[in-house]
Amino acid sequence: MRIDIITIFPDYFTTAFNYSIVKKAIDKNIVNINIHNLRDFTKNKQKSIDDYPYGGGAGMVMNIEPIFNCITKLKKEREYDEIIYLTPDGETLNQSTSNSLSLKENIILLCGHYKGIDHRVREELITKEISIGDYVLTGGEMPATILSDSIIRLIPGVISDETSALTDSFQDNLLSPPIYTRPENFNGWKVPEILLSGNSKEIIKWREKKSIERTKKIRPDLLD
Ligand code: ADE
Repeated sequence: MRIDIITIFPDYFTTAFNYSIVKKAIDKNIVNINIHNLRDFTKNKQKSIDDYPYGGGAGMVMNIEPIFNCITKLKKEREYDEIIYLTPDGETLNQSTSNSLSLKENIILLCGHYKGIDHRVREELITKEISIGDYVLTGGEMPATILSDSIIRLIPGVISDETSALTDSFQDNLLSPPIYTRPENFNGWKVPEILLSGNSKEIIKWREKKSIERTKKIRPDLLD
């Protein structure tokens, strides 16, 4: 998979993908991440990428032209499955969206700033708009990192223990069951007996029961 990220803060990403499973996926060439500085696509001397909103109001709006130039250049080089704008008023990211994006070949992520981007970009160029939650951040860089991370770990071949990603919270609309490791008894806080029993059938049953219990308690909306 190839991910192209368009940003006015390319330096933000210098270390963002240098860790853990994401780094391994990059090293194994399973994913290729390319960062594009939006200011390289402006024609004006000041390299400005924003302007005042028509009709007045607070905040600046990102111009169409540099975004159009950058996306057009990329689209000439290859076909894209999705051109995604990270925005608080997009559809809320969930595991199912990450699952389906993990099967794509090429995607573009556009990071917004200020009041947002000229709406014509959203109407004419963007194919999907994603929010990472109902709160407003200063820009789309962190959301783009979060979205990339959630997608990359699901690409087939990235997590070596195939079942590991399948047992994540949300994978089947349930939260994961509690997990434990050594020691069995820490200051009297004991690991549930069943997990030490070696009875894998009963362990699976226990985990399912706990998943449902936790989901009912913490995220009942997932069961609707
Ligand atoms: N940009 C600013 N806030 C955001 C959010 N919550 N999700 C995606 N992009 C954003």
